[in-house]
Amino acid sequence: MELPPLPPLTKTQERALILGLILAGWAFVVAARLFGLQILGHDDFSRLARRQQETFRPIGAPRGSIFDRHGSVLAISSGSHKVVVNPKRIPNKEIAAALLARILGLSGGFGFVAWQHELPVGFALARDLGSEGEILSLGVTPDCRRLGIGRLLLRAVIDEAARRGLPSIVLEVADDNAAARGLYASTGFVAVGRRPRYYRRDGETIDALLLRCPVNDESPSI
Ligand SMILES: CC(C)(COP(=O)(O)OP(=O)(O)OC[C@H]1O[C@@H](n2cnc3c(N)ncnc32)[C@H](O)[C@@H]1OP(=O)(O)O)[C@@H](O)C(=O)NCCC(=O)NCCS
Repeated sequence: MELPPLPPLTKTQERALILGLILAGWAFVVAARLFGLQILGHDDFSRLARRQQETFRPIGAPRGSIFDRHGSVLAISSGSHKVVVNPKRIPNKEIAAALLARILGLSGGFGFVAWQHELPVGFALARDLGSEGEILSLGVTPDCRRLGIGRLLLRAVIDEAARRGLPSIVLEVADDNAAARGLYASTGFVAVGRRPRYYRRDGETIDALLLRCPVNDESPSI
């Protein structure tokens, strides 16, 4: 049976048909894109996102001591410390790098870094001179000062000196550095010398004070 021919479309129907086709095409493109993103490319995109958000930091478990069959210690675990610098917080990277390289190149150096929310906020660099310890540099980022971080770093250096059997710790501090002098004084450091006009700052010279703190069980608890 032959179907009767369809009546010609009116102008309105023609416009509605074109619009419908455009919408259907647009919906198809969106659906195809979504399918590509959500189904086909899902694994790649989520891997990419994870790589941007996650960092992996292996933390070795302490191994503990190893004993021989007579109970004598053959090997011990000992921690090692690293210094990490956040370049965004250093005004002059070349000068800072040269200073740190000089300090890190010295023999017997050890140090500690204070972290807060995955960001380094302070550090202490010290040196084992054999007969005593020396604090080479200590600093806390300006927005994290007066929170006890400097005190903790100093405590860590004193504890390490005690562990190494060093009887005392020395350091130099600028005479006008009230914050550092307050910290050292409250920790048991006393002035044992003065180097006149040791530091030069803004055309002025400032004396350096030589401070020493005994390292023993009687040193004040900080
Ligand atoms: C010195 C410095 C390391 C102190 O670090 P910090 O984390 O702010 O010190 P803490 O919060 O642990 O303070 C410990 C004590 O130090 C003394 N102190 C710290 N900042 C002080 C300040 N601005 N004025 C006076 N005393 C201060 C106080 O006795 C304080 O104890 P309190 O808070 O109970 O009063 C920090 O100010 C710094 O980085 N300064 C610039 C670098 C520097 O001068 N380094 C020393 C080179 S020798």
